[in-house]
Amino acid sequence: MTTSGNREVLLKVENLNANYGQIQALRNISFEVAKGEVAVILGANGAGKTTTLRSVCNMPVVSSSGSVTLDGKEINKSDTGDIVSRGVAHIPQGRGTFPELSVVDNLEVGGYVRKDSLDSDIDKYFEMFPRLAERKDQLAGSLSGGEQQMLAVARALMSRPELLLLDEPSLGLAPLIIEDLFKTFGALNKEEGVTMLLVEQNANLALGIAHHGYVLEAGEIVLQGPAEQLQNDSSIQDAYLGA
Ligand SMILES: Nc1ncnc2c1ncn2[C@@H]1O[C@H](COP(=O)(O)OP(=O)(O)OP(=O)(O)O)[C@@H](O)[C@H]1O
Ligand SMILES: [Mg+2]
Repeated sequence: MTTSGNREVLLKVENLNANYGQIQALRNISFEVAKGEVAVILGANGAGKTTTLRSVCNMPVVSSSGSVTLDGKEINKSDTGDIVSRGVAHIPQGRGTFPELSVVDNLEVGGYVRKDSLDSDIDKYFEMFPRLAERKDQLAGSLSGGEQQMLAVARALMSRPELLLLDEPSLGLAPLIIEDLFKTFGALNKEEGVTMLLVEQNANLALGIAHHGYVLEAGEIVLQGPAEQLQNDSSIQDAYLGA
């Protein structure tokens, strides 16, 4: 187990480079996510946020090099499916549900890797997201954008992941729904100890629930620090907090 100070490191990424053919999308980035914490990667459109999460999961669309370890074990040579079964749940940007399945079937599929009964978790997430409970037999594809995002989160959590990767969960949602969703993320982290790597453009909300933050610009990490420090950083204020 790797430790950093007295924090236990769950995900450690070192000197990660990522390419789409000739296009280099990430240049030698390094970051880590401590167990039980929320780390956020902030960055503008095209900065490389989605590519970072794809590289962590070793998705075939991108070719990456560098070191990625989960709980001290190298995962960057593993297949995406193996990485998922080691406890990494990825909610891709703007997706993450099976549109042709009902809400409740989506949750069951999310828990397929588990052998125990799923009922108590399904009840738990219906309590957390009452809108989903009211629509449990509706097809996921016919839910609103916010409801689909809630379902994507609940579905990912059904596998009881070690690490939840969230790609811009606030995208396209109304401000009140975003606030609710982030409150839920904060509670999941604080009360259930879910470790998260969140990529976002919504710096204020993301830093509000994060412990540590990184700023990605054109494929490079240009700034990093504890979340409170970044919240007070004038360059972040100018670029992302609308100051
Ligand atoms: N499948 C792909 N093929 C080729 N280039 C890609 C592909 N996906 C992303 N890129 C390029 O890689 C760079 C980083 O893209 P990425 O999607 O990681 O950005 P992002 O930070 O997630 O942006 P956004 O906030 O718009 O989602 C961009 O220049 C993008 O055009
Ligand atoms: Mg993206």
